[in-house]
Amino acid sequence: MKVTKAVIPAAGLGTRMLPISKGVCKEMLPITDRPSMQYLVEEAVGAGITDILIITARGKEVIENYFDYSPDYEAALLKKGMEKECAALRRVADMANITFLRQKEARGLGHAVLCAKNFIGNEPFLVLYGDDVILSEKPTALSMCELYEEFGRGVVASQTVSEEAIKKYSSLKIEPVRDRVFTVTDMVEKPQTEAERFSCQSILGRALLPPSIFEILEHTAPGAGGEIQLTDAMRILAQTEGMMAYEFEGTRYDMGSKLGFLTANVTQGVLHPECGEEFAAFLKEFVKTL
Ligand code: UTP
Repeated sequence: MKVTKAVIPAAGLGTRMLPISKGVCKEMLPITDRPSMQYLVEEAVGAGITDILIITARGKEVIENYFDYSPDYEAALLKKGMEKECAALRRVADMANITFLRQKEARGLGHAVLCAKNFIGNEPFLVLYGDDVILSEKPTALSMCELYEEFGRGVVASQTVSEEAIKKYSSLKIEPVRDRVFTVTDMVEKPQTEAERFSCQSILGRALLPPSIFEILEHTAPGAGGEIQLTDAMRILAQTEGMMAYEFEGTRYDMGSKLGFLTANVTQGVLHPECGEEFAAFLKEFVKTL
């Protein structure tokens, strides 16, 4: 079955990005001049997704406005002869059918996904975590959709992390299928010892889920931090139906963390067609002073 719907949860509190996240939602923080959310929508569209539901919250209206037409602003640009810029803004608004739904309380990522139940209906769907930007030649979401079509099972994007780092992430119980592709039959959150962990293969911010996840989420009790955790539900899915893991290829930025935000802007800033060269020259001088 072809995957055509995606959910982007963006209703979290963003506590790791305080104080800015009180005023500007972290999903709209830029990498140079494009918000994270635009990268996510572009990735989904690159995977053939036509319908996207963005889960928002009070104070995050800026996301909705960004994907809407803005006649006054466009008129002002046209008056200045900025037709190209104006057309680019329209393209962003026209990329996909984007709908919005509010999660009234930040009850966790699992709860945010559950809010999408009526929008999704009885179809498989993609979840792109709102603060997790992945840049790769072939969209990670597209590779995941292809795996779903081939195996008919839910898919998580994964990466290999160090033994130290896995203590902060989830560890997958995997069997290799081929290069970058594994079957997943179990997972464990934040394993602190070697005995507790399955592998150093860890989930990152993409999942392709069958609609059966909703029933599991409806019965998932609040876990870590009192929140309904998506990984708790995916664990049950992996144990019952089995899942696949796709080890992503490319660069990933955790835009929900200060370090991720800074790294993204430095590494992508030097590549920017307008100012990259000058920025790189500045950086070369700057690192001499460190
Ligand atoms: P995170 O766990 O990174 O978001 O969830 P958070 O809770 O905002 O993070 P911190 O720890 O407080 O900094 C991944 C994605 O899921 C969304 C977030 O907005 C983020 O894009 N999310 C999280 C929701 O939509 N609702 C929630 O209740 C929690």
